[in-house]
Amino acid sequence: MSMQSSTEPTSAATSLTAMPEDQALKARHAAMWASGNYPAVADEVVGSLGRILVGTLEVQSGQRVLDVAAGTGTAALPAARQGAHVTATDLTPELLDVGRAEATAEGLELTWQTADAESLPFADATFDVVLSCIGVMFAPHHQQAADELLRVCRPGGTVGVLSWTPEGFIGQMFATMKPYAPSPPAGASPAPLWGRADHVRSLLGERVTDLVARQQTLRVNRFSDGIEFRDFFKINYGPTIAVYRFLGDDASRMAALDADLAALGDRFLREGAMDWEYLLITATHV
Ligand SMILES: C[S@@+](CC[C@H](N)C(=O)[O-])C[C@H]1O[C@@H](n2cnc3c(N)ncnc32)[C@H](O)[C@@H]1O
Repeated sequence: MSMQSSTEPTSAATSLTAMPEDQALKARHAAMWASGNYPAVADEVVGSLGRILVGTLEVQSGQRVLDVAAGTGTAALPAARQGAHVTATDLTPELLDVGRAEATAEGLELTWQTADAESLPFADATFDVVLSCIGVMFAPHHQQAADELLRVCRPGGTVGVLSWTPEGFIGQMFATMKPYAPSPPAGASPAPLWGRADHVRSLLGERVTDLVARQQTLRVNRFSDGIEFRDFFKINYGPTIAVYRFLGDDASRMAALDADLAALGDRFLREGAMDWEYLLITATHV
């Protein structure tokens, strides 16, 4: 008989996430996402994606729903409004606190729990729906995270993942920042790969059926020019803040990144709006 308890992550997940280097990496990631003001990014720019994901999945009253890398609950809260029993997990407790306060103000009951997407603290097959909105893509070990999404989803349950594509605006923002950023840690995969349908198909493999991949865009009209976009992200968005911090006091590299990000914003603006591409995958767990 296996020594692996069904209330714990798989042994592969446990051994990876128990390593001190991995714990240090996740602590750095949590601090990065807590920096700036991600709630403002969610409120003013990307928050509608959670409703789109929940609507596409047709979340029903009474379903047990897990939101992985939930942040402030942009998907968890709409699922709870549908009457689902929702658990919202994230690496960054500061973001869960914002969602918890919003739920309390609205009289919604959800469970908010700090957790690494690569080592979810739930028994096998606990949830009817496991979803993640521009969230699990940021866990560095893609296969590990995909295995965990499937492990906690019951057979016949649904998995839904919404991710920025590499070619879309946020994918291109990460590509623009890459030459200015530190080398990624060994074994980490780039976040926007979750925006490729073939990558997600291979992560989920034969363990799902009825996989549907929808390439869609989010219309963003929050920024009137590239400089306004750049300055908003420089102040509020953890990954952008981290790259500027890495440049320290190298004024010429900072000026070059400033120019590149503003140019990227201008390239995507058409008549005061941008279309940010994402991939929305739904699948049934066999
Ligand atoms: C772009 S935000 C998305 C938050 C929210 N789902 C939304 O739609 O606004 C990315 C989130 O992933 C979380 N995250 C990053 N790495 C994670 C990991 N290994 N496990 C769980 N959450 C993680 C961050 O803390 C952050 O809340």
